[in-house]
Amino acid sequence: MTLIRTIEFEALSDERGGLVSIEQNNNIPFDIKRVYYIFDTQSNVSRGFHSHKNLQQVAICMKGSCRFVIDDGVSREEVILNKPTVGLYIDNNKWREMHDFSEDCILVVIASDFYDESDYIRDYSVFLKGINCDS
Ligand code: TYD
Repeated sequence: MTLIRTIEFEALSDERGGLVSIEQNNNIPFDIKRVYYIFDTQSNVSRGFHSHKNLQQVAICMKGSCRFVIDDGVSREEVILNKPTVGLYIDNNKWREMHDFSEDCILVVIASDFYDESDYIRDYSVFLKGINCDS
């Protein structure tokens, strides 16, 4: 099973430009409780390096590009996000890293729950222990 699960959004494009509509439980597979975005990024500064216990997210690169690494504790896969019509679905218990941000990158993240620091696992060895306990 691939770890990279992308969602292609239908673009309503015409001579005036493009338009993508995002709807909970339609093209986003969960109730949307939070939207945040990352900007003013630098190519040599990586982000992420955590997993969540109970959070689904869809990351969309609205402008520029960045490289995501998704790791389930067994394998690691990566994808470059560089289109406002493609979302990366990230489930619970997936370690994620974001690298190689372009300086113009605007990364929007749609999340299934409010911000809660206690939902984060920020230590890779703790993440691996949790995965091994579950299996
Ligand atoms: P973090 O999730 O660690 O960012 P990234 O994974 O992109 O490296 O968040 C950075 C900081 O912002 C951290 O102190 C938590 C805070 N934060 C919020 O307060 N609310 C949010 O919705 C998010 C995503 C982060």
